[in-house]
Amino acid sequence: MSYASRVVWITGASSGIGEALAKALLEQGAEVILSGRRAEALQAVADLAPERTLVLPFETTDYARLPELVEQAWSWRGRVDLLINNAGISQRSLALDTSFSVYRQLIEVDYLAPLALTQELLPRMVEQGSGQVAVVSSVAGKVGTALRTGYCGAKHAVVGYFEALRAEVEEAYGIGVSIILPGSVRTDIARNALEGAGTARGRSDTNIDNGIDPEDAAKTILDGLAAREHDIVVAEGMEQGALQLRTADPEKLFMITSKEGARLAKVRAELGAGASVDPDAVNRH
Ligand SMILES: NC(=O)c1ccc[n+]([C@@H]2O[C@H](COP(=O)([O-])OP(=O)(O)OC[C@H]3O[C@@H](n4cnc5c(N)ncnc54)[C@H](OP(=O)(O)O)[C@@H]3O)[C@@H](O)[C@H]2O)c1
Repeated sequence: MSYASRVVWITGASSGIGEALAKALLEQGAEVILSGRRAEALQAVADLAPERTLVLPFETTDYARLPELVEQAWSWRGRVDLLINNAGISQRSLALDTSFSVYRQLIEVDYLAPLALTQELLPRMVEQGSGQVAVVSSVAGKVGTALRTGYCGAKHAVVGYFEALRAEVEEAYGIGVSIILPGSVRTDIARNALEGAGTARGRSDTNIDNGIDPEDAAKTILDGLAAREHDIVVAEGMEQGALQLRTADPEKLFMITSKEGARLAKVRAELGAGASVDPDAVNRH
């Protein structure tokens, strides 16, 4: 299936995976609605094909604006063929050092926001008799790993919502639902990740820096969406292995993740409670 002339709405299109998806879609002739908070960064993507882009900046948890935003997006071309809920934020902090407000923020941005936008757009797709909805979860949406209790919780929740939604709308109304499961992709995700007190981490980590190129990730995702795949895995090495182990031998996986947690606990003991425990520190223990 070609993306030429398809109307695609991407949240989080101002950087990383979303930006790479937007650029690849524009190269393939799609009409793209670009969302994120940073209007200037969205405009820079739109400048690649001004006649085929709509810049629609918004804070993804500003639920009161959704009816107006969905109306703007829909009336641009009279339809939306594909919504990619990609905007998201990660976490790098141990549960013992994480404030409740951080959990709340992760659930808002990574779970409730894609749910709310999908709920607002869905009736129009149903009425149109076609459409496709995708969400970017994570390998962390299937596998629980240290330093990410809130992120894993929200990314698991989003898998639950979209799987259940698929059961309701795929055969009944012809609406495709895809769940995207990336491992480490080289973006600003770790830099923007929240630490225990709720501030952005401000620096990357080795796994992300050595991760999959965002352009390669975008290609895998778009091929999967074109084939209407249900789960689109964008992972390699240990992260791909962890996904497989989760069903093939969960106890072995839990042993591996617990050992990592134990190494991080040693780092925490050295640094003191509340200190920022670096994911890279496990390599030193
Ligand atoms: N990179 C990875 O290794 C990886 C792995 C698994 C899953 N993922 C998921 O992939 C998705 C994209 O992340 P990325 O890796 O591309 O990271 P990124 O470079 O930090 O991009 C995150 C995007 O989300 C947008 N965003 C964040 N909070 C927002 C908010 N409150 N309102 C509106 N937009 C918001 C940002 O836009 P503004 O800054 O303009 O608001 C930005 O465009 C996320 O859902 C992430 O959890 C990433």
